[in-house]
Amino acid sequence: MTDLTAMQADLSARVTAAADLAALEAIRVEALGKQGSISELLKSLGKMSPDERREQGPKINGLRDAVAAAVAARKAELEAAELDARLAAERVDLTLPPPPERKGRVHPTMQVLDEMIAVFAEMGFALAEGPDIEDDFHNFTALNFPPKHPAREMHDTFWLPEDANGERKLLRTHTSPVQVRVMQQGQNRSLPAWIAQGQAPPIRVIVPGRVYRSDSDATHTPMFHQLEGLVIDRNIHMGHLKWTLDAFIRRFFESENVGTRFRPHHFPFTEPSAEMDVQCDRSGGSIKIGEGTDFLEILGGGMVHPNVLRNCGLDPDEWQGFAFGLGVDRLGMLKYGVPDLRDTFAADTRWLEHWGFSAFQAPNPATGLS
Ligand code: DAH
Repeated sequence: MTDLTAMQADLSARVTAAADLAALEAIRVEALGKQGSISELLKSLGKMSPDERREQGPKINGLRDAVAAAVAARKAELEAAELDARLAAERVDLTLPPPPERKGRVHPTMQVLDEMIAVFAEMGFALAEGPDIEDDFHNFTALNFPPKHPAREMHDTFWLPEDANGERKLLRTHTSPVQVRVMQQGQNRSLPAWIAQGQAPPIRVIVPGRVYRSDSDATHTPMFHQLEGLVIDRNIHMGHLKWTLDAFIRRFFESENVGTRFRPHHFPFTEPSAEMDVQCDRSGGSIKIGEGTDFLEILGGGMVHPNVLRNCGLDPDEWQGFAFGLGVDRLGMLKYGVPDLRDTFAADTRWLEHWGFSAFQAPNPATGLS
């Protein structure tokens, strides 16, 4: 006769000691599986005499129930432990700082352009824009470049192929054609004011934009940026131009002490014309603005030529104005010490990381510029 008590003790001990679900399942099969030891005992009931069965039946069934209950209990324990282990292993630590991400930077030219726009906006200038692809009339003829004049060649123009009308468009060589567009559209009273880029005098606009010339060295790139200014009103004279540019330079370079100098020059679209130089020091191998005794040319300007006013439908006896044009990238190089203009447009992110500006800079309390 099998010792049921010893068997239960032995199986219960092994069930409790089962280290994992696989070991537990092996014990369950060994005892309660089809050919398991307890299953065999249950089968043996059929061969017993009625008296024997009455005595053994409850004991064997009790053994089966006890072992089955022990297996179920141990199984629940092992499953809970397994879940705990997984939860611990897969836990996401929300307190960990995220891996650092590369930040975008504001290109120096765009930074400088924003600074310039902020200064001129404070003086009451509005913004105007024009197309990069221009025609000969706006880029040259209306600006008083005589036909076949060498000045047209001096601009190293990128010409586009002839179009269906036999006309050759060009990439604008300067932002000055937008002067013409603003003045012309100001005369076009059929356009609603909110559509017209132009305006009737008085006009006070700045025109930032890309310009193109077939030229490339350390201080020239085939594409660069200019900022044009145009003021048209009654009784405007050179003094207004000088004051405006002087005030701009001091604000832009954030110094009251930058000396400036105006030299006579020639542009077809202004009379008189001048170039403006800023005081600088070249002695240390780099250029320092506002120090020393040298001067550096930074922009052109003058009184708008009467022919240009006439070409745009304005009467020069009633209206006068001044205009100027400056190189944005050049002034940015000077302000921030960028050494080579070609790198500026090489689209190298390492360069941009070094020379670029944070997009979230607080405004400078002294100047209000960011
Ligand atoms: N358009 C000239 C250039 O690209 C710059 C310039 C000179 C603009 C005199 C002006 C001006 O408006 O009056 O070299």
